[in-house]
Amino acid sequence: MESIPIQQQAEGESKAAFLRRFARDVRNGLSLPRKRLPCKYLYDDTGSRLFSQIMDLTEYYPARCELEIFQMHKAALADLFGGPPLNLVELGAGDGTKTRVLIGQMRARKTDFTYVPIDISRAAVDCVSGRFSRWFPGLRTRGITADYLAGLKWLSGQNHCRNIVLFLGSSIGNFPARDREAFLRNLRQSLNTGDCVLIGFDLVKDIAVMTRAYNDAEGITAAFNKNILTRINRELEADFDPGLFRFYSTWDADARAVQSYLVSTCAHQVHIRGLRRSFDFSAREAIHTESSHKFTRHQIRELAARNGFAVAAEFTDDAGYFTDCLWRAA
Ligand code: AVI
Repeated sequence: MESIPIQQQAEGESKAAFLRRFARDVRNGLSLPRKRLPCKYLYDDTGSRLFSQIMDLTEYYPARCELEIFQMHKAALADLFGGPPLNLVELGAGDGTKTRVLIGQMRARKTDFTYVPIDISRAAVDCVSGRFSRWFPGLRTRGITADYLAGLKWLSGQNHCRNIVLFLGSSIGNFPARDREAFLRNLRQSLNTGDCVLIGFDLVKDIAVMTRAYNDAEGITAAFNKNILTRINRELEADFDPGLFRFYSTWDADARAVQSYLVSTCAHQVHIRGLRRSFDFSAREAIHTESSHKFTRHQIRELAARNGFAVAAEFTDDAGYFTDCLWRAA
């Protein structure tokens, strides 16, 4: 399936403002004693394409497991979503594969709903809206170009009807712990009591299974991570040589996350013209590129309770690798 563009230039943000923000984040991240780059910048056009390929990898079980959940539990989900008119709000435009299963079922039951994909990239919103209009002629769609914060603000004005929010793919797992809590609190405050959120969590499992998902044989995940260096070269006029970095990912038992890094293979210096600065790398020095947190069932229930949600249902794939939880705003 063709990839959905998921760039980070916010609606209304000029290219110049985006580049200033990107430059600031790169400067701050590479100035830390332990260098890091925000994972949101992994997704330029090439990154989005590579991410789409990751979703199809045998090793990357989360995509497969979540699709299995939707296929297996589509009737139960559609039952839960039946009743008065609602907004089916999707935070972050996915490629539509899972949502298509759910919407097909809701249409078959004649549920009265509007599909509202929210994404920071207008191209992504247009792409997903177009795709759903083709799949489901006559579907009421209202695409919104906004970041999560602005999207939740829009949602808080939707108190005339029920809202069901989809936050799939374990995107929640890429938030640092503190931001995760803040996001969930904000999400709760944007909902009316009784509104629901269906949220995907990747569960803690066999370490080999989790680490293999981020270290595939074809090297697509490595290319996906290394692409951030190429992006910095292009957009901030840097001279990174991606060939001097090795991709490395590992299970971090304390954080319960697969941590991804680009590790410098030798001592060298990189100049970033757009920052008018050089950065020294020693041999084996790492840049942290992504945390992919995994969750226990107990932790998920605590997250729900702490942030004002009651767990209404939990749907899990056969292997017990992934869960989609339906939380009701309490
Ligand atoms: C988008 N996110 C949930 C993916 C993950 O599993 O953390 C991103 C990803 N990175 C490497 N592979 C997939």
